[in-house]
Amino acid sequence: MKTLSLLDATTFTSPNPVSLVCSLTPSGGTNLATISWWTCLSLKPQVIGFASMKTSYTGELVRAGKQVVLTIPGQALARQVMQCGCSTGRETDKASEFAIELKKLPDCDIAIPVHTVVAIQCTLKEFVDVGDHYFYICDVKQVYADDTETPLFAWQGYSRIAPAREA
Ligand SMILES: Cc1cc2nc3c(=O)[nH]c(=O)nc-3n(C[C@H](O)[C@H](O)[C@H](O)COP(=O)(O)O)c2cc1C
Repeated sequence: MKTLSLLDATTFTSPNPVSLVCSLTPSGGTNLATISWWTCLSLKPQVIGFASMKTSYTGELVRAGKQVVLTIPGQALARQVMQCGCSTGRETDKASEFAIELKKLPDCDIAIPVHTVVAIQCTLKEFVDVGDHYFYICDVKQVYADDTETPLFAWQGYSRIAPAREA
């Protein structure tokens, strides 16, 4: 076997998961960040985790507000998933700039994309310094799903966004 970087290895593990992590901005809007490094961590209690670069606006918002909704984007959002992963909410109102239509969840301040397959509403439990990223460990409050939507994945590492069956 040949040696390679962890990042290069993700070309072999494609399709990789992809999510849009939704956080609450100071004006009550939603910031959306493309995050592939998320995982379930526990079922009893229900806990998930995701890694976000230390410099990300998402991290700043989640550390401040302690709430977050991790969503799995539907097929209609393929272009926007890449756009949300190549821009920061510090400079861009991504929902408005990339024409992402949002909807409300019950008992949740953070609006999420209309075309969402699964939404995991969470509160921040703790975050861990893991190097150039923080790992956010989150208690799951509620999970929602829409089985009419087709989930997206990241292909060729993280360079292409497409459903599993079409790539
Ligand atoms: C397909 C894809 C997957 C990504 N996965 C991650 C990830 O798991 N963690 C991370 O910190 N950034 C990831 N990014 C990069 C962030 O989305 C990017 O840094 C974004 O600008 C962060 O936005 P924010 O500053 O508004 O939070 C990914 C980008 C793409 C295109």
